[in-house]
Amino acid sequence: MNIGFVGLGKLGLPSALAIESKGHVVTGYDVNPNIATYIENKQIPYMEENVPDLLNKTSIQMLPLADVLRLSEIVFVAVQTPHDPLYEGVTALPETTADFDYTYLKNSCRAISEELDVLKQDRIVIIISTVLPGVIEQEIKPLLSKHVKLCYNPFFIAMGTTVHDFLHPEIVLFGVDDKDAVLKAKKFYRTVTDAPFHEMSIVNAELVKVNYNTYISMKINFANNLMEICEKMRDQGADVDVVMDALSDCTKRIISPAYMRGGMPDGGGCHPRDNIALADFAKRHALSNDVYTEGMMVREHHIKWFADMIRSYKMPKVILGKAYKPGTNLTVGSPSIRLYNELLHDVASAQREKEVAAERKNHASPTRTSTPPIMWDPYVDSKRPAELDKPAVFFVGTRHEQFRDFDYPKGSVVIDPFGYVNPSEGVTLVKVGRQQEVGTE
Ligand SMILES: NC(=O)c1ccc[n+]([C@@H]2O[C@H](COP(=O)([O-])OP(=O)(O)OC[C@H]3O[C@@H](n4cnc5c(N)ncnc54)[C@H](O)[C@@H]3O)[C@@H](O)[C@H]2O)c1
Repeated sequence: MNIGFVGLGKLGLPSALAIESKGHVVTGYDVNPNIATYIENKQIPYMEENVPDLLNKTSIQMLPLADVLRLSEIVFVAVQTPHDPLYEGVTALPETTADFDYTYLKNSCRAISEELDVLKQDRIVIIISTVLPGVIEQEIKPLLSKHVKLCYNPFFIAMGTTVHDFLHPEIVLFGVDDKDAVLKAKKFYRTVTDAPFHEMSIVNAELVKVNYNTYISMKINFANNLMEICEKMRDQGADVDVVMDALSDCTKRIISPAYMRGGMPDGGGCHPRDNIALADFAKRHALSNDVYTEGMMVREHHIKWFADMIRSYKMPKVILGKAYKPGTNLTVGSPSIRLYNELLHDVASAQREKEVAAERKNHASPTRTSTPPIMWDPYVDSKRPAELDKPAVFFVGTRHEQFRDFDYPKGSVVIDPFGYVNPSEGVTLVKVGRQQEVGTE
């Protein structure tokens, strides 16, 4: 196929060479004239495996943008989205935060649009630059000509091994909202790799890209935390490699897709209490981080977020499920019960408000509800409360099978953090963090 590249820097040039090595004809455009010199002299000023060999045999032509667009069926955009050096992790973490700078990407998209308007032909334009979630929709799409069939296809490559990583990806991530564009892109990718092709909306692809990197950061932090513990316990024989090797062999739950789902926070007889005990250990051993308390705070904040979501519906409140996991009556460490207790604060606060108002002879209506929420679990409670048959906001706190097609009363709102409840007529279903399949209200 005829492939174009706009931006042939540290990502663009090695990727363009890799694509050419699969038999495609590649042309390129870059505002930096040095790129043409690198290709002519067959030399780049940075180290990249395989690039010297590929440069020796390349026929990539650097052309004006209009020609690249005219000649190409698919155009990749790999211009920089840089960060101020303050945010690159080489200086002390600044107090301020900042998004990437999209000026270069916007300029290149504007220029491509203008040329395609002149050419009056549609082109598949695939952005591979890194952007934060929502940027393509909010900042890039408004600049585009109707002739741009836009895709977002970030690469999971590491600098230094770009060619190999591009040709051997774990997945091909493809954000797209144009059906024809995806067919052509799939045809192209079949010539490069047989890795799974994950087609999705552009915003989901943006989310996958940056979270792939943060997941790796999380793993590194986890291993380094253990390294610090092992250093402090070295006199007792602790060794981080022994510990991590054993954990790495746990391919059912740890190194696996297990738990890779949004739902309720952690629960059970071990997890919350282990973290709380380890927070004490972190203090005693003066660890530089207390990741255990931080983890428990994430759990606390999610519980409070769910509680606010429930409170936002001015209806009776029902929490379905007391068990910490589906299909059992085990309630130890249950996040569902933690949520119920959070909502009970409202009842206590309402009671206090009432008492204060009575003392001050203030007759203003209380700001909080004084009706306690109902909580029910088919594995724990023998008696089914009558409130379950009246419209309410139902929060599914345990993923019991019984709640998937439960007889939710018409007029109810069902909040489902697991995304498994089936819609039913007359019920508003809130699938948290998922595209909603809402029943008729
Ligand atoms: N380098 C990597 O390993 C890597 C890995 C993954 C993602 N990325 C992402 O890829 C993007 C590019 O990164 P990079 O490291 O290749 O940057 P880079 O600065 O090395 O290359 C960008 C190139 O785009 C050119 N350019 C700028 N504006 C242009 C325009 N209007 N028209 C044509 N060319 C233009 C520049 O001259 C430069 O050669 C960034 O968003 C980066 O985050 C890079």
